[in-house]
Amino acid sequence: LNLVGQMAAGIGHEIRNPMTTVRGYLQLLGAKPEYAVRKPTFDLMISELDRANAIITEFLSLAQTKRTEQRSQDLNDLLGKLYPLIEADTFTQNKQISFIPGEIPNLELNGNEITQLLLNLTRNGLEAMEERGRLQIKSYVDNGKVVLAIADEGCGIAAENLRKLGTPFFTTKDSGTGLGLATCYKIVESHNAKIDIDSSTRGTTFFISFPIPVASSKIVDILSQKAIHPISGS
Ligand SMILES: Nc1ncnc2c1ncn2[C@@H]1O[C@H](COP(=O)(O)OP(=O)(O)OP(=O)(O)O)[C@@H](O)[C@H]1O
Ligand SMILES: [Mg+2]
Repeated sequence: LNLVGQMAAGIGHEIRNPMTTVRGYLQLLGAKPEYAVRKPTFDLMISELDRANAIITEFLSLAQTKRTEQRSQDLNDLLGKLYPLIEADTFTQNKQISFIPGEIPNLELNGNEITQLLLNLTRNGLEAMEERGRLQIKSYVDNGKVVLAIADEGCGIAAENLRKLGTPFFTTKDSGTGLGLATCYKIVESHNAKIDIDSSTRGTTFFISFPIPVASSKIVDILSQKAIHPISGS
C-alpha cells in the first residue's frame, strides 16, 4: 500500500472507536420500552454499523504488511471445520454444495487467512448462482502442487472484468465492497501460492495452487510411486 493507503488504514482503525460508542448507545436506547415501535430502525442502524465495521476489518487486513505466521497443517482439516458453516449458508439460499477432500500432504498455512480466503471465495460463488445452483469444493495434488478448487455454476465473469479482479474496490454488485478478492490475492501471495480462474457463462472455478513444502514432498514422492501418474517437479 502507498502512503495514502496507509493513512486510510490508520483512519479506518481510529474510526472504529467512535463507532463502537454509537453502536453501544443505539443498543441501549433501542432496548427501552418507549422506543419499542422504533425497534426495526434501531436494528437497521446497528447492522449498518456492523457492516461498516466489517468493511474496515477487511481493508485493514489488506493494509497489513507484517507477514503472518504459518505452520504445517492439513488443508482438509481447515476445510472440514468451515464446511458446516458454508453448508448452512448454502441451504438457506436454496443452493447445493459438495466437498471432495483429496489425499494431500500438509502445507505451511495460516489458519485464519485460509479461513478468510475460503469464506470470500465461497461467498462469491454463492452470490453468482441462482437457486438450486451447486458449489463444489475440492482439494487434490496436481503437477507437484496442492490445488484447492472452488467451482460454481454461476453467471461467470466477463472477459473485460477478469483482469480487474483483485483490484481493491472493484465490484459489479450493488452492495459489494470489492475487497473480497483483493484480500484473497494478498493471502495467496503470502502463501507463495497462485490463483487461476476458469470462467464461462456456465460458471466459474477458482484454482488456488499451493507449493508443497520439502518435508511433505518426500511423502508425496513415496505416494506417487504407487500412483498411475507420477508427480513431477517434486
Ligand atoms: N465466482 C464468481 N462468479 C462471478 N463473478 C465473480 C465471482 N467472483 C468474483 N466475481 C466478480 O468479481 C468482483 C469482485 O469480487 P470481490 O469478492 O472482490 O468483491 P464483491 O464480491 O463484489 O464484494 P465483497 O467485498 O463483498 O466481496 C465481483 O463483484 C464479481 O463481479
Ligand atoms: Mg466478494
